Amino acid sequence: MSVSLVPDQPVFMDTNLPLFANLPYKVADESPEAIAFGRKEIDLALHEMPGLEALREEYGASKPLAGARIMGSLHMTIQTAVLIETLTELGAEVRWVSCNIFSTQDHAAAAVVAGPEGKDGQPVFAWKGETLAEYWWCTLQALTWPGDQGANLILDDGGDATLLVHLGAQYEHEGPIPAVSTAGSEEEAVIIQILHDVRAAQGDNFWRPMAAQIRGVSEETTTGVHRLYKMQTEGKLLFPGINVNDSVTKSKFDNVYGCRHSLVDAIMRATDVLISGKRALVCGYGDVGKGSAASLEAQFAKVSVSEVDPICALQACMMGTDVITVEDALEDFDIFVTATGNYNIITADHMSRMKHNAIVCNIGHFDNEIDMAGLEAMVERGELEKIEVKPQVHEWRFKNTTHGPNGGGHSILILAEGRLVNLGCATGHPSLVMSASFTNQTLAQMELHANAESYGKTVTVLSKELDEKVARLHLAKFGVNLTELSQEQADYIDVKVEGPYKPSHYRY
Ligand code: NAD
Ligand code: ADE
Repeated sequence: MSVSLVPDQPVFMDTNLPLFANLPYKVADESPEAIAFGRKEIDLALHEMPGLEALREEYGASKPLAGARIMGSLHMTIQTAVLIETLTELGAEVRWVSCNIFSTQDHAAAAVVAGPEGKDGQPVFAWKGETLAEYWWCTLQALTWPGDQGANLILDDGGDATLLVHLGAQYEHEGPIPAVSTAGSEEEAVIIQILHDVRAAQGDNFWRPMAAQIRGVSEETTTGVHRLYKMQTEGKLLFPGINVNDSVTKSKFDNVYGCRHSLVDAIMRATDVLISGKRALVCGYGDVGKGSAASLEAQFAKVSVSEVDPICALQACMMGTDVITVEDALEDFDIFVTATGNYNIITADHMSRMKHNAIVCNIGHFDNEIDMAGLEAMVERGELEKIEVKPQVHEWRFKNTTHGPNGGGHSILILAEGRLVNLGCATGHPSLVMSASFTNQTLAQMELHANAESYGKTVTVLSKELDEKVARLHLAKFGVNLTELSQEQADYIDVKVEGPYKPSHYRY
């Protein structure tokens, strides 16, 4: 697959950058200080990522990822830097972007670009505070490999890289690309625009050869996995997917215990408001909601949850947590957190009824859980003022309400502009939790690189053997002394002495 470099290309939207820029990488800060800080934190993180250390030890010499060209779209954090350098130590070539405009840690990006010993760095296109146009420009740069060969694997978080390739190929197959004016959101407009600009620069046989070279994708998160299964059901999936999220050692750890750590970290860094004694509503009591509720409870907040699923609602009851609706909470609650993976959970009308200075944030993958577009429309109509407190923390002042100070308009505080708060206002989950997730990711990439063609265009989860292996690799860090089954005991419960210990339908 070759990308022709178009002379005198116009810049892409607000990026000030040509569409096919042919840059080796693009990060915000390449100073020696940023590189040294990033490298120090990467070294410290590696010590907390025993799963990735073990894979380097086991496979570093045999290089099972030799020949893999992995395009990664996953938050460019320190932990991701350790993942990137594990993939390359196992033989892969990589190109990387973040999957969120606010989640890049610029010193991590700088250190990856510089490389472990100040050489052999990897191409990263990511910085904290990208515009939407910059974000999709970065995705395009990472997908377009220099030379004739494109990426042959994607490592995705949320499905944006997978989406761009699928949409590009679909419109080439169908012929026309929809007009930008048909877009349902600002972000959709940018995606359609980039597809039009690629068509203008490269013609209508750019995405299909790229898709044909991609052998598979490993998907990190609930929302991205949902997109993959939908494409599979509709017969639109162009290559196999491994659902990393539903490894037990991913969703039952990262989504729960990661958020238990990183939600209050973000609220505290953003606001410094005392959480103890405050009333907090967590919308959605799935894995992320359970971790988020626990995070706030650990600070002695008075937590309630909202749910649509009776099973999750009953689980909340068993934890002694009230299950209410958003409407029940509006006038009295201090903190609102969305964790549903659904949209329009907190509407502009809801926010117009909240207490003065209520904190509103989202820890689900996309920013439409909170109706940010509805708020922007109110600003345009002159009903609301957006005031920056600091980057990723905004006061939104309602001009026409009367329950603010002195009977005037009230304000609310929105964190990370409605995007993933733990990555926008803090540094995401800690290394030990991410080690389990990223050990699954590395194993998924190894599996796809070895056997992608045997899967067909389906979505699968890794085996229980691998899930248990990932867990086992992390036990020593906690000083675990695991009991071993005797042969007689193994026979009695009908498992092998070495596992797996549970049937696939077991739910943990
Ligand atoms: P999940 O399916 O386990 O939980 C979501 C819950 O929300 C479900 O129980 C569902 O019934 C509930 N829900 C749906 N619509 C609702 C509504 N209108 N009102 C109330 N509840 C509703 O998913 P999850 O694994 O908890 O992931 C949730 C989101 O968080 C996804 O977007 C996922 O990609 C993202 N995620 C974020 C992080 C992070 O670090 N921020 C980590 C993992 C996952
Ligand atoms: N998702 C949640 N926390 C993360 C982190 N620290 N790095 C990458 N992805 C994440």
